[in-house]
Amino acid sequence: MHLTELQGANLRCFTEFSLTPVSGVNLLLGENGAGKTSIIEAIHILGYGRSFRGRVRDGLIKQSTGALQITTRWHDHQGTPHQAGLQHSGNDWQARQDGADVDNLSQFCSHFPVLSFEPGSHALISGAAENRRRFVDWALFHVEPDFFPQWRRFNRALKQRNALLKTQPAPQTLAAWDMEYAESGEAIHFYRQRYLDSLNPGFQAICHEFLPECGPAALTYNAGWRQAQMGLLDALRLNQDRDMQTGFCGVGPHRADWQANLNGQLQQEHFSRGQAKLLALSALLAQAQQFVAEKDFWPILCFDDLASELDAGHFRRVLQWLSDTHAQIWISGTEALPIYAEIFPVLKLFHVEQGRVSDLQ
Ligand SMILES: Nc1ncnc2c1ncn2[C@@H]1O[C@H](COP(=O)(O)OP(=O)(O)OP(=O)(O)O)[C@@H](O)[C@H]1O
Ligand SMILES: [Mg+2]
Repeated sequence: MHLTELQGANLRCFTEFSLTPVSGVNLLLGENGAGKTSIIEAIHILGYGRSFRGRVRDGLIKQSTGALQITTRWHDHQGTPHQAGLQHSGNDWQARQDGADVDNLSQFCSHFPVLSFEPGSHALISGAAENRRRFVDWALFHVEPDFFPQWRRFNRALKQRNALLKTQPAPQTLAAWDMEYAESGEAIHFYRQRYLDSLNPGFQAICHEFLPECGPAALTYNAGWRQAQMGLLDALRLNQDRDMQTGFCGVGPHRADWQANLNGQLQQEHFSRGQAKLLALSALLAQAQQFVAEKDFWPILCFDDLASELDAGHFRRVLQWLSDTHAQIWISGTEALPIYAEIFPVLKLFHVEQGRVSDLQ
């Protein structure tokens, strides 16, 4: 699956831009503030319906303009050409695909499996648990058809139960939501655990390649309740008094998390910036590999400012790994480093400057 054309209008510094990428590696080069991240953002928005730099209305739309537009042509994994467009006014969005309106943003995004890595992606390792849950849920959204309905079901039950908790309800009133909550919560847990188990070997292998000096790596998972001892329904009942006191549900998959360990120890707070970046990259690339195993095609891989914080040796290992994939790859950077041409024999270079993108070759 790869984009064959990408156009945008009213996106940050761009009034308009248009690119014709290759199915392999696309390099976006330009000075600081030129608009490289904004182009990566455009691809990310196709895949997620939102930016990795906050809400659409918080600065994504070019100042003093109307709606942001992103249009694209792409070939699916069977080589069939498609086209699609997304328009966002800051308050609402409209989408079209292959000439027809799409009224469900998730359905639109499901056509664009995009994995993006940007300077904030360290958060996958060293940030809040929400980043790590979202990471796992992205994969399940794409590969497990039953996941999203269960996720919606659980979130509805969580919202209802939390609203009820604020009203000091009788225990039997609260219990009315317990079964729905526990069933959907257990389903989410089941999919997440199975997914992380399947991700672990790939993650370990990539870490070994990227960070051989750090010893063996692994992922450990926490369900969001003492899952090894009891089911979610029992945990919920056991926690009921505390939930009544705090006014929100304290056990469930909304509290789940996973950690990357090196050398068998939890070292999250000890990782250097470069190590955290390499661990986060390992997790993301293991996810891409796992996606291929399930779907038989590569997601689009975007790397904003890939070279930053990596020394020459580690950077080389990452590029070498990428050169073995069949993914459409987007990399942004400030310089045309010779290593790009050395490692990727086929490469398309774009020059990004304030408000303009042009082909460099
Ligand atoms: N809503 C907006 N309207 C107009 N211009 C904007 C808006 N938001 C951001 N910009 C400008 O868009 C430009 C592009 O920003 P972007 O972050 O894409 O640059 P970059 O090439 O990734 O830079 P760096 O190398 O520093 O990461 C910047 O000059 C920024 O000030
Ligand atoms: Mg940038």
